[in-house]
Amino acid sequence: MQPNSRIMKTMLVVLLGIVLIWPSFAYAAPKKGLLIYDTIYGSTIEVAYWIKALIGPENKLDVKRLSQFLTVDPYDYVIIGSYIRNEKPSDDTYKFLETYQDKLAEKEVIYFLTCGDNDETMVLKTPGGTPHLIAGRNYLIDVYEKFPTIKPVVVGAFGGRQVQPTLGTMDSMFTWLLGKLAKEGAPWEGLDIWESLIPERVEVFANQIRTEILGLSPRFDVEPYRGYWHSLQPASLSDPSKEKFHPKPFNEHQDTDRIFFTRSRIKGSLDDAITYLQTWAKQADIDLQEQRKTSFNVYYHAVKTYEGKEHTLHIVAAELTEDPGNIHISFRSYEKPENRKGVPEDVAKAEKILWADGRKVEGEQRQTITEILTRMQSTP
Ligand SMILES: Cc1cc2nc3c(=O)[nH]c(=O)nc-3n(C[C@H](O)[C@H](O)[C@H](O)COP(=O)(O)O)c2cc1C
Repeated sequence: MQPNSRIMKTMLVVLLGIVLIWPSFAYAAPKKGLLIYDTIYGSTIEVAYWIKALIGPENKLDVKRLSQFLTVDPYDYVIIGSYIRNEKPSDDTYKFLETYQDKLAEKEVIYFLTCGDNDETMVLKTPGGTPHLIAGRNYLIDVYEKFPTIKPVVVGAFGGRQVQPTLGTMDSMFTWLLGKLAKEGAPWEGLDIWESLIPERVEVFANQIRTEILGLSPRFDVEPYRGYWHSLQPASLSDPSKEKFHPKPFNEHQDTDRIFFTRSRIKGSLDDAITYLQTWAKQADIDLQEQRKTSFNVYYHAVKTYEGKEHTLHIVAAELTEDPGNIHISFRSYEKPENRKGVPEDVAKAEKILWADGRKVEGEQRQTITEILTRMQSTP
């Protein structure tokens, strides 16, 4: 063979190789997803298919109940959804994470929760119990600690639904008792159906999967999909004036025998709020002890001695998914009024610093989904 034709042949083989291999460089294969969920009463199923619809039927996403699932192997990303019971995801969700943690550590993982309480500035105190952070994404604290090798890319906690007359006997008794014990009252009292789900949270969550996992553009036309959740089922069969869903107030103040509680919101970031609280603690001679810090909230014990008695004030500052750009801050004292003298004045001083320079956001006005998504796109 002539040297020239050998060179030609080699070039041809190289060219053919490039042509064959090129497509796999140019276009990554579309990602395949699994959404696996656990439910008792069915709300989590409705949310699961709502998320699938928002992500879009053109994107491969299998939806499976935990009891109908076999393997995580075929999937690039896995969305894990559970209801919350006694402040934790279901036992079967834990078992699933335990069994598949090594495989999940190699994949893109997403967590979501349905729950009753989704207020991430919430601290719960029950008789005899220690006050602790609960609600929304806080319910995943234990999961993070038990399965540290699984690093979720997106996390959402939406709220949920309780249909009081259909609860099992033990569940019914449990929710009744909780209503009696909760210092701040139970929102389901007097209702047949109580809902707490914030639709914008589901929409933001699905959009995060679209943009961060699938590399797609966000979906702004989310309203038509709300039918996956909303229904004509009434809040009360006997009283048509009642409503299933009351968003928790952004601004609240209670000063009763049971609790001192105040909550407000300010413009700014979580870091800004932390700086204002630290300034206040210094000025008011308060020992601000950080209990927990996440990407979306911080929980402090503010300790000070009033009239010879040490007092712990519980403070949480949080950025909520449905209100980007604002920080919600709650203060709680569980002491009786005679044991919390001095606390209201100190809290008022904190609020003066937090609210200065027009930072306080008055009223209950909520951001629209377009405002939320636009704001999220503009912040890295
Ligand atoms: C017995 C019982 C315990 C619950 N415990 C909690 C809890 O600790 N925290 C919370 O936020 N919601 C709690 N919930 C509310 C459920 O998580 C919520 O209603 C959820 O939407 C139920 O999902 P499912 O319909 O898919 O079963 C509880 C509900 C019941 C019936």
